[in-house]
Amino acid sequence: METISVSKLLTLYFFTVLFLCSNLIQCSVTYDRKAIVINGQRRILISGSIHYPRSTPEMWEDLIEKAKHGGLDVIDTYVFWNVHEPSPGNYNFEGRYNLVRFIKTVQKVGLYVHLRIGPYVCAEWNFGGFPVWLKYVPDISFRTDNGPFKAAMQGFTQKIVQMMKNEKLFQSQGGPIILSQIENEFGPVSKALGAAGLSYTNWAAKMAVGLGTGVPWVMCKEDDAPDPVINACNGFYCDYFTPNKPYKPTLWTEAWSGWFTEFGGPIVQRPVEDLAFAVARFLQKGGSYFNYYMYHGGTNFGRSAGGPFITTSYDYDAPIDEYGLLRQPKYTHLKDLHRAIKQCEHALVSSDPTVISLGTYEQAHVFSSGTGKCAAFLANYHSNSSASVTFNNRHYDLPAWSISILPDCVTDVFNTARVRVGTSQIRMVPSNSKVLSWETYNEDISSLEESSKITASGLIEQLNATRDSSDYLWYITSVDISPSESFLRGGLNKLSISVNSAGDAVHVFINGQFLGSAFGTNEQRSFTFNGPANLRAGTNKIALLSVAVGLPNVGFHFETWKTGIIGPVLLHGLDHGQKDLTWQKWSYQVGLKGEAMNLVSPNGVSSVDWFIESLATQGQPQLKWHKAYFNAPDGVEPLALDLGSMGKGQVWINGQSIGRYWMVYAKGACNSCNYAGTYRPVKCQLGCGNPSQRWYHVPRSWLKPTNNLMVVFEELGGNPWKISLVKRTIHTQISSEPNTKN
Ligand code: GAL
Repeated sequence: METISVSKLLTLYFFTVLFLCSNLIQCSVTYDRKAIVINGQRRILISGSIHYPRSTPEMWEDLIEKAKHGGLDVIDTYVFWNVHEPSPGNYNFEGRYNLVRFIKTVQKVGLYVHLRIGPYVCAEWNFGGFPVWLKYVPDISFRTDNGPFKAAMQGFTQKIVQMMKNEKLFQSQGGPIILSQIENEFGPVSKALGAAGLSYTNWAAKMAVGLGTGVPWVMCKEDDAPDPVINACNGFYCDYFTPNKPYKPTLWTEAWSGWFTEFGGPIVQRPVEDLAFAVARFLQKGGSYFNYYMYHGGTNFGRSAGGPFITTSYDYDAPIDEYGLLRQPKYTHLKDLHRAIKQCEHALVSSDPTVISLGTYEQAHVFSSGTGKCAAFLANYHSNSSASVTFNNRHYDLPAWSISILPDCVTDVFNTARVRVGTSQIRMVPSNSKVLSWETYNEDISSLEESSKITASGLIEQLNATRDSSDYLWYITSVDISPSESFLRGGLNKLSISVNSAGDAVHVFINGQFLGSAFGTNEQRSFTFNGPANLRAGTNKIALLSVAVGLPNVGFHFETWKTGIIGPVLLHGLDHGQKDLTWQKWSYQVGLKGEAMNLVSPNGVSSVDWFIESLATQGQPQLKWHKAYFNAPDGVEPLALDLGSMGKGQVWINGQSIGRYWMVYAKGACNSCNYAGTYRPVKCQLGCGNPSQRWYHVPRSWLKPTNNLMVVFEELGGNPWKISLVKRTIHTQISSEPNTKN
């Protein structure tokens, strides 16, 4: 009852302020050394990241409502330049990219927004959010003191700010946006760039501030953020952080609630006890704004995942899971934390703490609100021993590595290590939807050379050719083999081919026959394919299908990194030694023929003759298109495709891309947790020996009741007949008594 009335009051307050702002008085957001100040009031602000393109508009309101119910004040999102401006001057703000609708939904629910415009966002997003065409602007160099880059960045930033102003979305206009971010984690890059880095930082700040939004600007991980821009912290812990000026508040823009997954990597989880401890520790040191990165991670639909090798799922072990369901105990434990924090809000923003030692590892931070009221945080920093402490003549038990919150300096209302909620039992259960009768079409690789429109002497960098219009680029050449070569007569020489790639994967075909594949990893994109070459006397066709698995999103001048076959491409074992094919004539085909024919969509699917595959008709196991129709499952539970029987590729439903899939198995140190210095586990790694991602989110709103088209492009070989549509269900036990896991 109490929480309902508090939340009703807050909503009332929000709408009253909105009314006043738009009608009677000027609204404002400022800051002082203690906090962000909204309409004259210092606030403790609890924020969570939800990225609008990582879910569907149909999901937004529910996600934001759940965030509000979880105790959040603010929704934080990046703005993703590459989805909004797919080609210069052509803008897209429709569907999942409807930024204004997203912000208005947050406003409707009654929360604030932190708009992180970037426009560099990192975020495990393709190319860090930059449009690929930007790379081809003459004389450009990204994120430095470079005229063409600054002009483009300013143009996009202005466009977004103007859009927000037109819709009256800044809090200074009565809207929900209380903060904006320019750039993202530029500090480390700036250090590497030296003077150019510093002048770019100053330019970016001045440019942003000059846009006159009426709300403060933030730069995260940028110690040199010039006034009035606030520098903020990102990390698993931020209690060590102080802003670069004594008159700025202490903000934590990314409190990492978990971590992202890579194809080939384990599932990473962050225990909620540790996350809650990190947050409480940040607040007791004087922090007043923190944002969970992510609060809902969502899905990298289409080819939006960066990396390379970031999975389609961006679940992030966040309090709301990829499918929009509550993850327990994370969600409720943080909600309990938020309630306790809000009870201390007045004291926290009114005073600096008095720190009292309670033992070797134990401390009290005491805040007084000046009206005789006080709040205290009691901490035990020992990583594995609990403690019994005396504070104001009372005894308190503190589990190891925990903080208790006493909003009245007496009652322990919350301890970061005492969790009253059980762990969600997640099940992927069969649905009643049967995928009917698969039909197949083999990607045509017999006429590649004839259909190719690009030829060159030597190897072309992949993005130069594709401009990222597809993941795929064919490199095609031919080689003449003399009948006198001894390997043809079973000589001692064994013929082999080696192919050097800058990333991310290659499938090798000779005379239409598949020889094998090779893959890079997120840590080491470049790799060499080595395999026996089945050449014959006369002319042989070599066709290399190079595959990008998401463009890099982080790293020094990542826009200059190469993708695709860079050579050398060598034949080994000929009578005169090796033959270098690198500089001979190559032909290129951008994308797959099936992509060009739009086989993925209901409009283009009939442009070829599909066949029902049987053992007799199977042909090439690689590079196959499969299609089938299915009816929507009943019920309301979120849906996923179980692609455990497949290899690697992409999948579409009714023409919408579900994303890339790959059943590569997770490797690494699994079933273990990392320790950071004296800190407790920040990351636990799970799932080794299983595919990094087996299930792929299918938004319900993408389905019709009947006759839904599913198209799969499979690179390696798999069994589509075993693909199934499953429902995700979650069961959690909530006990009234807290349970200390120490
Ligand atoms: C941060 C970055 C975010 C995201 C995160 C890791 O450094 O600012 O955009 O990439 O790392 O998930």
